[in-house]
Amino acid sequence: MTSELLAAALEREHREIDEGIAAFTASPADRQPLTRAIRALRRHIYLEEEFLFPLLGEAESALRAPVFVMLREHAQIWAVLDALEGEPGGSTCQALCRQLASQLLHHNLKEEKVLYPRADDVLPPAAAERLRAFLGSGELPRGWMCVKARPATRNG
Ligand SMILES: [Fe+2]
Ligand SMILES: [Fe+2]
Repeated sequence: MTSELLAAALEREHREIDEGIAAFTASPADRQPLTRAIRALRRHIYLEEEFLFPLLGEAESALRAPVFVMLREHAQIWAVLDALEGEPGGSTCQALCRQLASQLLHHNLKEEKVLYPRADDVLPPAAAERLRAFLGSGELPRGWMCVKARPATRNG
């Protein structure tokens, strides 16, 4: 029995989210792909911030700096998701989607080049199994916000 590599599973989530945004941009009359992509992206960020990144940083101190950059970018992405949810449609919504797609292009590439390739090597088997289970059926806790989007924290 072989399990899918974590890196591959996480990259697949990137692709699916990108596809949802692209589907909405192509046919703005149907908002469902965008709604799904927003939900999936928030959950993906949760998984990275609460499970994956802390474990990577613990295992390899050299990964802490790139993780810090990713957390900052998550907050920028999170703000665009909030804005998108407040936009029923129209040109502002399309502009936000273009902005999000461009942010994700750069952000995801860095994760895929620098962080994800380490995941399958450094995560303890039990932690990797928990992540895999979450990818299958985990849910974003109600009210969760990405670390650097929380108003009360000082992030520098
Ligand atoms: Fe990310
Ligand atoms: Fe990611």
